[in-house]
Amino acid sequence: MISATAPGKIILLGEHAVVYGQPALAIPLSQLTASVQIELEGDAGEFSSDWREVVRVSAPDIGRSGFLSEYSPANDPIALVIANVLKEMKIPRPPRCHIKIESTIPVASGLGSGAAVSVALARAMASAVGHELADDVISKIAFEAERIHHGTPSGIDNSVIAYEKPVYYVKDQPITTFQVKVPFTLVIADTGIRSSTMDSVEDVRKLWQRDPFKYQLIFFQIGEIVEKGRQAIRHGELENLGRLMNQDHHLLQELTVSSLELDQLTEAALSSGAYGAKLSGGGRGGNMIALVPEGTAGRVEEALLKAGAQRTLKTLVG
Ligand code: MEV
Repeated sequence: MISATAPGKIILLGEHAVVYGQPALAIPLSQLTASVQIELEGDAGEFSSDWREVVRVSAPDIGRSGFLSEYSPANDPIALVIANVLKEMKIPRPPRCHIKIESTIPVASGLGSGAAVSVALARAMASAVGHELADDVISKIAFEAERIHHGTPSGIDNSVIAYEKPVYYVKDQPITTFQVKVPFTLVIADTGIRSSTMDSVEDVRKLWQRDPFKYQLIFFQIGEIVEKGRQAIRHGELENLGRLMNQDHHLLQELTVSSLELDQLTEAALSSGAYGAKLSGGGRGGNMIALVPEGTAGRVEEALLKAGAQRTLKTLVG
């Protein structure tokens, strides 16, 4: 049995504008994971002519079970990841196998569930057919699958998840990390509403096409907030970071990607003492994050649950 896992992710600052070339900050979220197990069935050297006929996939979290022959790499992320791993390793066909995919990352919730499954699957399949692949190759393979999930992804989700470290990300540029002077706690709250990132990214694109000047300015302002946020993290200025998160949330509201529930949760976090709060990821549902002073996470989590959050998590950054 070969297995691999990958974490979820949180976008700290900069979602949506990152699609338009602005920087963004993201961190891996190790409390939530996607895991893939591959059982080789029969002789590892036994190959079939149509490789999809020998690959069986069970993914109960997305209600999927059966042979890959029903799916095409042109529009199925799982088939595409496997096809690209085989191509990368110059192997024409995989051995007969059963792939089990499980995930504790809720789908369509802004926490990178699709990219995490792609990364864990690419890692497990590479090990099953030969040897491990480098993080940049895994990230590239997951990015191709993200195109099916999201249409025009920036590449931030596959990057932060494949490298499994905090990233300062600019589309099409090498990954860099960021320094954290004072570790800080984030509370994450789930609205319980599932929302398609592809749709929210597409709607922002329509707004931008209708009024490029207005929306380019918003993207630019978000980019500036990200740069200031990176400095605030570097210098341990947490209250300042919180203010920047609030400003980012207001700009995301202008991009129409917040929602009543996300706004109620950010308000509840701020009223219970958070330094700052914002939606995280594609928006319109999914999760929000709150930066909280030391020792106050419990109080903020309680307020979030009272305001309608389906569940909360906390994570320490740095
Ligand atoms: C999704 O996690 C983040 C977005 O900025 C889309 C992307 O960057 O691909 C909304």
